Amino acid sequence: MFDLIVKGGTLPDGTVSDIAITGDRIVATGQVQGEAREVIDATGDLISPPFVDPHFHMDATLSYGTPRVNASGTLLEGISLWGELRDIATVDDMVTRALTYCDWAASMGLLAIRSHVDTTPDHLRGVEAMLEVKRQVASYIDLQLVAFPQDGLYRTGTGRANVIRALDMGVDIVGGIPHFERTMEEGAESMRDLCRLAAERGLMIDVHCDETDDPMSRHVETLAREVTRHGLGGRAAGSHLTSMHSMDNYYVSKLLPLIAESGMTAIPNPLINITLQGRHDTYPKRRGLTRVREMQAHGITVGWGQDCVMDPWYSLGTADMLDVAFMGLHVAQMTHPAEMARCFDMVTYGNAAIMNLEGYGLEKGDIASLVVLDASDPVEALRLRPDRLAVISKGKVIARRHRNDARLALPGRPESVRRRHQGPR
Ligand code: FE2
Repeated sequence: MFDLIVKGGTLPDGTVSDIAITGDRIVATGQVQGEAREVIDATGDLISPPFVDPHFHMDATLSYGTPRVNASGTLLEGISLWGELRDIATVDDMVTRALTYCDWAASMGLLAIRSHVDTTPDHLRGVEAMLEVKRQVASYIDLQLVAFPQDGLYRTGTGRANVIRALDMGVDIVGGIPHFERTMEEGAESMRDLCRLAAERGLMIDVHCDETDDPMSRHVETLAREVTRHGLGGRAAGSHLTSMHSMDNYYVSKLLPLIAESGMTAIPNPLINITLQGRHDTYPKRRGLTRVREMQAHGITVGWGQDCVMDPWYSLGTADMLDVAFMGLHVAQMTHPAEMARCFDMVTYGNAAIMNLEGYGLEKGDIASLVVLDASDPVEALRLRPDRLAVISKGKVIARRHRNDARLALPGRPESVRRRHQGPR
């Protein structure tokens, strides 16, 4: 007797398979015989492993408009606004907002999140709050925390000390922001310093790196060098990397093999960077997204991150990683069918690889976390961003939703409207 069988769903690779679950593990796949305490009929629906977001700011989420909106729409005004908010927000405020966001995430099948937590203020209330959130959601969301010196490792007197304090308190990952240090040299030194720290402590490192339109912001070069030097490949990520968009092509032809050699991964954040970057341009106005297809062609693992939902930097967002992939697909012009399918893979398997999640997938023995989507395949899921009919986390059904049953009644037209593709496939 299984605990649960998800019957007849279509996996992202097109295979039709049952998935049988006992406890928190997938125990059988294929045509499963046997009884279960609960059966979910997923015939014709897409079954995916859970969505994964490798780049978020949960200490700031759902604070939009507090203390006021970002009038210029720039990264720098966002940082300045956040600087005010983080000193008036209480631990309870941040826990409440973050838990609400986790509810949204769970309903969308987003079950693993890496969140940067600002370690700049000496009170470290954000760290305290996010560690509490991590504890409270642990049974259904895997939350990784990054010690993130938002105002720079060296620009404030306690920037470096506070990163270390946060790690000592239980934050998982080393963070940095080299392009925000006072000088290029101090930015490069911060990369050497933080990679050494990650290596000494055996931790992962994830750096906000070169989130600027300045083509001379080349800290990714130093990051890749230090990742190679310390053997941090597979444990290191460069987030944003937007300056690469504007770099000279000849320089990039040297840079990409260095990044590939290091084994570090890349996390562009398309919803945010298509809105924040290029604000100083007139026309033509740059897109500001890093070179996704080019990195993938060099064998570099690239994911899609969400970054922000309703905070000082971004006024919208729904915790839906399909929105993120949809925007990324457009901005990076990944419209070939294989590229669209890859965009879906990026917000599932790719992001899981970046976060080094264990037991992730839909094979026998994997952790029993999955999503049933009202779509027939990954590309249709991107087109529709459809209802999550069921979300299962670690063997437990944590969200259910009825299939969209909207109806149109127009003269001379059949009543039913189906958003899913019904032509020859
Ligand atoms: Fe970020």
